[in-house]
Amino acid sequence: MEIIIKNDYDEICSEAYQIVFQEWQRKNNIVLGLATGRTPLGVYAKLINSYKKGEINFSEARAFSLDEYLGLKEDHPQSFAYYMNKNLYRHIDLKKENIHGLQGLPEDIDEHCRQYEALIKSVGGIDVQILGIGSNGHIGFNEPSSSLASRTRAKTLTKETIEANRGYFRDGEEMPCYSLTMGIGTIMEAKTILVLAFGKNKEDAVVNSVEGPITAAVPASVLQLHPDVKIIIDEDAASRLTRKDYYRWVYNNKKGITQIRSVNKPPVL
Ligand code: PGA
Repeated sequence: MEIIIKNDYDEICSEAYQIVFQEWQRKNNIVLGLATGRTPLGVYAKLINSYKKGEINFSEARAFSLDEYLGLKEDHPQSFAYYMNKNLYRHIDLKKENIHGLQGLPEDIDEHCRQYEALIKSVGGIDVQILGIGSNGHIGFNEPSSSLASRTRAKTLTKETIEANRGYFRDGEEMPCYSLTMGIGTIMEAKTILVLAFGKNKEDAVVNSVEGPITAAVPASVLQLHPDVKIIIDEDAASRLTRKDYYRWVYNNKKGITQIRSVNKPPVL
């Protein structure tokens, strides 16, 4: 795991943007896995900005949404389809046929989930998956106790997740308590995973995921088993980490490793 501690939200988003940009330079037909929520908004704004400046384009790219509320139509303002369109897709040149999402009202839930998995596989898997993290350690809508091997499926939301997202819904409006989400096993197959978090309310989730045991009680802790995951967080979200200085040291010395690799010779001490 690479733990990257930044000064503020804007720096978190710049770091994540740079990683996506570099991957896109390497592979224009990049397959993105995209989360909703407050956290990734700044990354999407940077991608849009960069697209408008002509630095990046998405004409060959693909995107898969991470999750969706069950029971909401695509045009419901709180649906994740609506969110993705409003906050990213309608501003860039991603082709309609390359935009993939889980449906809020599928005819056959299990079949829809199976097809989603098959589609991800058929395009060679997700190159970069952007994730937020719930204050309870969830990733996607994989709530605590989700199987660490789970695949895309329907999940019941915890009361805390419902409460955390209530603010998006109108007063008195009924909130969905079910969702469809990529499974933890599905997420783990992404080649690179970026977990973004900022603010004090994420400090427990971050320390438990990064320095705690791997447990279904903290779904994000399974990311410790992933070979290429970057946890990009601010000081508040990092505040309970015990090895902060080491993480900073590793990050600040990263250039050195790249140089050693390029000459293929370790330095003589
Ligand atoms: P947030 O949600 O980005 O709105 O904090 C993250 C999550 O619940 O996964």
